[in-house]
Amino acid sequence: MLKTPVLVVNYKIYDVSYGHKALELTKVLERIADETGIEIAAAVTLPDIRLIAPKTKIAVLSQHADAIEFGSHTGFTPLENLKDAGAVGTLINHSEHRLRLAEIEFLVEKCRKLGMVSIVCTNNVATSCAAAALEPDFVAVEPPELIGGDIAVSTAKPEVISGTVEKVKRVSSRVKVLCGAGVKTGKDVSKAIELGSEGILLASGIVKAKDWERATRDIVSGMLK
Ligand code: G3P
Repeated sequence: MLKTPVLVVNYKIYDVSYGHKALELTKVLERIADETGIEIAAAVTLPDIRLIAPKTKIAVLSQHADAIEFGSHTGFTPLENLKDAGAVGTLINHSEHRLRLAEIEFLVEKCRKLGMVSIVCTNNVATSCAAAALEPDFVAVEPPELIGGDIAVSTAKPEVISGTVEKVKRVSSRVKVLCGAGVKTGKDVSKAIELGSEGILLASGIVKAKDWERATRDIVSGMLK
């Protein structure tokens, strides 16, 4: 399990966030996690899991998993394969990789069996409640229209964070809530934490920053008391 507050950095697949560059970014995150004691996890591309996981102490997550058992499938990746490669958990149903409800349920259940962390991404309060009913470890709410932009969810739609926290906890107090989309600064983060978020799922604010170290330190400052 990831300790909270947690910063989950989704590397997506920018030209600076795969292969050896991704390993460099991970080393920056690891250093800052070590120094601050804040849990930072890296959601890397599937081929990079095996490159990065053995070389870092921070949690490495997959950006996606397919809802399949072993068998005659081509170009699909089951959780067992991701775990074997070194992933300790996975994003499920990211806004840029949506899944069907039955697939989400399959993956949450299988994560539980395999001892992997499940982070189900959602787009609003209602879908967050639906996801919470499946009892993943985390629900990460991200209004899609704010993803990759410059206005943070905590500024543009604070009610999505507070509403998600309130309603998800009513469904299951065990499910932790993350939020993301447009988060760029420590201020954005502290506001999200004040609204009840137990961490942040973020990409461009760090991955596309000119100075990864400076951007990450600023983001993490919003989680330090
Ligand atoms: O998975 C995180 C993501 O979708 C948010 O992206 O670039 O707005 O931080 P970004």
